[in-house]
Amino acid sequence: MNIIVGITGGIAAYKTPILIRLLRKAGHEVKCVATDHALEFVTPLTLETLSGNKLYADLFAPANENSTEHISFKDWGDALVVAPATANIIGKMASGIGDDALSTLLMAFMRKPIYLAPAMNTQMWECPAVQRNIEYLQGIGIHILQPECGELACGTSGAGRMPEPEQIMEQMTILSPTPDLRGQRILVTAGPTYERIDSVRFIGNYSSGKMGFALAEALAAHGAEVELVTGPTSLRCHHPNIHRTDIESAREMFAAATQHYPTCQAAILSAAVADYRPDHTADHKLKKQGDSGMTLNLVQNPDILATLGTMKQDGQKLIGFALETDNELANAQKKLEKKNLDYIVLNSLRDQGAGFGVDTNRVTIIARNGNSTTTPLLSKARVAEEIINHCL
Ligand code: CTP
Repeated sequence: MNIIVGITGGIAAYKTPILIRLLRKAGHEVKCVATDHALEFVTPLTLETLSGNKLYADLFAPANENSTEHISFKDWGDALVVAPATANIIGKMASGIGDDALSTLLMAFMRKPIYLAPAMNTQMWECPAVQRNIEYLQGIGIHILQPECGELACGTSGAGRMPEPEQIMEQMTILSPTPDLRGQRILVTAGPTYERIDSVRFIGNYSSGKMGFALAEALAAHGAEVELVTGPTSLRCHHPNIHRTDIESAREMFAAATQHYPTCQAAILSAAVADYRPDHTADHKLKKQGDSGMTLNLVQNPDILATLGTMKQDGQKLIGFALETDNELANAQKKLEKKNLDYIVLNSLRDQGAGFGVDTNRVTIIARNGNSTTTPLLSKARVAEEIINHCL
């Protein structure tokens, strides 16, 4: 995993090189980003030697001439941990201030996992403004690693001490994701289906496959073997535990999904399957029919999700998606019952950043007992984590 370690100017920065060492030892790649004040406590040479990578500290001296570092770091990192995190960086994050390398990177990184290990004097930690900022950051999904009580460098004793590097690693849930899905095989469907009209035309939809691929990657990161059945997409999967089957039509997806489901512990069907297909596919390019227009006869495709619902055995889980325009919750709940699902993930149509093609999504996850939870607008990778945490 690619981990970015952010360091700010607190005396606890003397422990950060040990954190970097532990992360490397556990097999992670590490890049460091430090504030000017942090470099009063640790040297660039220490950080670069231990991380094995160039330090990023100066916003205006990009090491890579082709891109701005705070964006390329954002793309590179799977998670970012700030240890120690001073009251200052916490305040900047909560107020949307980006005036150096680390604070701008944190702004760009908001849709990926961020962990903060606050470290400061007890009175500073208990200051209402700091507590308000912490509460706000927690509310937008930033992981706060609670500071410990104990002797502080300033000679006093109380809350505010940075957890030991081993504890920081333990609390970085992304490093040892729960639930542990090792030994489980999970089916995921993704992308659109194409229903052929003739040799050059088809009926399709705008699904990009991003949500399904994010699910497959996240499931594999949790240790699962993933059977990914996908419609046409330019996306690639990266994890070796993902076994990919490419299909084109709903009927091909049906055949692959029904073949894999009996050997799987769970299935998550995120594909946007065409409900209908032309009743006849011409094997040549159809000619224009002139002013009289043209009529295509459509016949219904099999419902893959409903079929898996009839095949479901004790101990198997089935999770579907729903796209609704009115009575969203009630219609999704009906779909869940009708198709014998354990959970249904309702896609939001109300948010600009949610839905087809984009990298973000906001969903409501509805359980069979009617309980539901709505996520904020998050990256599809983090929505995948939410779905895994709630449903598996
Ligand atoms: N689905 C499926 N096979 C189909 C149609 C849909 O497996 N032929 C799955 C989708 O992958 C999704 C869920 O069913 O998980 C719901 O899809 P949606 O389009 O919201 O609903 P439909 O069942 O098609 O119902 P309607 O169009 O009437 O809302």
